[in-house]
Amino acid sequence: MARIFITGSADGLGQLAAKELIRQGNQVVLHARNQQRAKEAIDRIPEAENVLAADLSDISQIKRLADEVNALGNFDAIIHNAGVYQAAGSTIVNVNTLAPYILTSMIDLPKRLIYLSSGMHLSGDPKLNGLEAVPPQATYSDSKLHDLILAKAVARKHPTVYANAIDPGWVPTKMGGQGAPGDLEQGFQTQVWLATSEDAAALVTGRYFHHKQEARYQLQSDETELQDRFLKICAKITGISFL
Ligand SMILES: NC(=O)c1ccc[n+]([C@@H]2O[C@H](COP(=O)([O-])OP(=O)(O)OC[C@H]3O[C@@H](n4cnc5c(N)ncnc54)[C@H](OP(=O)(O)O)[C@@H]3O)[C@@H](O)[C@H]2O)c1
Repeated sequence: MARIFITGSADGLGQLAAKELIRQGNQVVLHARNQQRAKEAIDRIPEAENVLAADLSDISQIKRLADEVNALGNFDAIIHNAGVYQAAGSTIVNVNTLAPYILTSMIDLPKRLIYLSSGMHLSGDPKLNGLEAVPPQATYSDSKLHDLILAKAVARKHPTVYANAIDPGWVPTKMGGQGAPGDLEQGFQTQVWLATSEDAAALVTGRYFHHKQEARYQLQSDETELQDRFLKICAKITGISFL
């Protein structure tokens, strides 16, 4: 049995991954944006161990959340799932880029880290211009490239941890919309697999998966110089250094 923390698990792929992990006998701590959503999350998954509330568009709340996760003790895996698609650039950067960065930097390292990226990262800006702007900005594609860069940076800096990124496919959640063509089941099974499986194919690090298979990604994310620059900019914005 593994113990897993999942951000953004009041709905969508986070909620579905939580349900499946619990069904398979694991212990899950949920997260939602506020107390009301936290209550809804635990009402929908009463078997969850706990639920934490924090609005990830607010950097001070992200830091408080990290402290609250640490207070619950060690986790085997963390799934950085919460995300926004249609929002101001400053909100996208906080929720999609800085929340995974801060939580990864502050939470005691689990054995496995999983970052929800997207096929749309392929058109993200590898120059990181928006991230360096004042105030920082990101398009959705930029932010999903950031998630991939972060996964690869973590994999390089913490070789004892399995850190990987996922494209779940375009699937019918609140974000994906009802007309999304992808398979919803396949959209969360890779996260569950990477979080718990002992398959050799899941015990890898610094990779990018789609439906449990390694997939094509923006190759610049492998550049250590880009990864280090990304970490440095995030540290400057948040005041949290990446260890
Ligand atoms: N669906 C797709 O087609 C697709 C494709 C590629 C990648 N992805 C990625 O997959 C992940 C999950 O997406 P999804 O499709 O499951 O989307 P979703 O149904 O919209 O769920 C997103 C989750 O993130 C939470 N969230 C959003 N803003 C937040 C904030 N400020 N503070 C705290 N929590 C916040 C949401 O909370 P509320 O429920 O309260 O809004 C929700 O639980 C995302 O990272 C997304 O980028 C999705």
